[in-house]
Amino acid sequence: MHHRGRREPLGVGRGALLAVAARGLDFHYLGAMSEGILLPAVARGTLLARPERVARLEQALPQIRAALEGERDAVAIQATVACLLWETLAQTSWCGFYRRVGERTLAVGPYQGTMGCLRIDFDRGVCGAAARTREAQLVPDVSRFPGHIACDDRTRSELVLPVVVDGEVRAVLDLDSTHLDAFDPAEAELLGGLLMDVFAGATF
Ligand code: SME
Repeated sequence: MHHRGRREPLGVGRGALLAVAARGLDFHYLGAMSEGILLPAVARGTLLARPERVARLEQALPQIRAALEGERDAVAIQATVACLLWETLAQTSWCGFYRRVGERTLAVGPYQGTMGCLRIDFDRGVCGAAARTREAQLVPDVSRFPGHIACDDRTRSELVLPVVVDGEVRAVLDLDSTHLDAFDPAEAELLGGLLMDVFAGATF
C-alpha cells in the first residue's frame, strides 16, 4: 500500500519529486518549466540544436525512469512515456506507441499529437520497418523512405524504435517531426536505453 498523504520534508532529488507528483501527491513545481516534467519550457515544434536536445533528454531521462519505477502495466508505461517525451522532445508533432496486436500488425496505442493511422502492417512504413527489423529507424527525410505512411502530411522526419521484451517485438515508439533531420543518433541511443529499462518485466 502506498501512503497517500503529503510527506515531509521534500528534500529529495528531482526524479523522486516527479515520482511523488505522478502518484498524485500534493507538490508544487518551482520556476519556469513545462507541465509534468522538470525542464525549461520550450514552445511546441521548436527544433533545438543537437547538443541542447541531447542535454534536455539527459535531464529528463532520470525523471521518466523515476516516475515509472515499479510500474509493470504496458499501457500505463506507454501513456506516461508518451506524455513525458512529448514534453521533452519539443521537435515532435507525434509522439507515442504502436502496439503489436497480431503476428505482423501494429495498432495505435497511447500517443500525443495529431491523429495517427489506426493500423500499420509490418510491411509498411517506418514503424513497420522498425517492427520487422527490430532496429531503430532514423529517417532524416521521409520523402526518401520508400513506403513511408503519411498519417500527417506535414511530417518531414522520424525516429522509430522497437520495444523488444523477452525476445518479442511488443510495440514501437514512433517520434515524428515537421522539421527535416529532427532526430539524432545520440537521441536514438538514449531512448533505446530508456525503453529497455521501463519495459523490462512489463505485462502486455
Ligand atoms: N510514422 C509512420 C506512420 C505513423 S504516423 O505518422 C503517426 C510510418 O511511416 O511508419
